[in-house]
Amino acid sequence: MIIFKSADLLYAELSRRKNSGQSIGFVPTMGALHLGHQSLLERSKSENDTTVCSIFVNPKQFDDEMDLINYPNPIAKDIDMLRHVGVDILFHPTVDQVYVPGVEHEDLDLAGMDLIHEGEQRPGNFQGVAKVVKRFFEVIQPTRAYFGQKDFQQTVVVDHLIKLESMDIELVVCPIVREPHGLAMSSRNERLEDVKRDKAAFIYKSLLKFKERCYFKSLQEAKETTVKYLTSIEGADLEYFVCVDGVTLNEVTQLEDAAYVAALTVVKYDDVRLLDNIILKDER
Ligand code: PAJ
Repeated sequence: MIIFKSADLLYAELSRRKNSGQSIGFVPTMGALHLGHQSLLERSKSENDTTVCSIFVNPKQFDDEMDLINYPNPIAKDIDMLRHVGVDILFHPTVDQVYVPGVEHEDLDLAGMDLIHEGEQRPGNFQGVAKVVKRFFEVIQPTRAYFGQKDFQQTVVVDHLIKLESMDIELVVCPIVREPHGLAMSSRNERLEDVKRDKAAFIYKSLLKFKERCYFKSLQEAKETTVKYLTSIEGADLEYFVCVDGVTLNEVTQLEDAAYVAALTVVKYDDVRLLDNIILKDER
């Protein structure tokens, strides 16, 4: 595996590979890699000649400085994992390689999708995501880019970005990888004690029950029952539970409102923000 710190050198290497007809798969990450990241890397490896992973803890997408400072950074362990998976190139830049000093990074037109749901809870997060992903796409020029359904809203924002910038990149959204009990894998799960990690499976279980319920009850009724349940769990603080049109992210109140519908939720459990979602219907 070749490790690049310099954006210019990486650009030169990947331009050479693209010009010789190679396809490039790209998996952007913030490190602290787990089986969720690994599934994206393996998918990319199976579909491309060269797989590039980036590890960069993007300061622009953290509104809470303590969250940034506490973000795990086990780089040696991550590099071992990438070698084990057989990743070809790791891009591990410093901040000034990504945000070139003196260059303005204007906000992008994200059609308001950065301001709702997760964006409302974490102001600036999706502008930060869009800026870093745009920069990476320009340097790496991937044929395909791999993102997890775990961050559902992020995948919709990236899809919008690709269209906005008229980039010739195929977005591949990969399924959520879960811990044995059902909790969606996340670098933040490390902050939960083992017992709480198992118990936190109540989030996914409630999403599964919700999905079942909304086929024989109205979406609103099903939602009320699920919200009531989630707010009754000791130690849990429900931040939001919303059903959205999976293309526009607009809230829907009935399954018939859109062809593609997902339920998105964030539950703070033991002071850790746990994101999860479930696709209720996809008739696109
Ligand atoms: P990070 O949280 O490290 O996630 C990197 C990628 O892994 C994202 O596409 C995320 O959705 C995916 N992922 C995380 N947990 C997953 C799981 N349990 N199953 C499947 N996929 C999972 O998301 C980011 O970093 C950043 O916002 C980034 C895109 C790198 C931009 O800075």
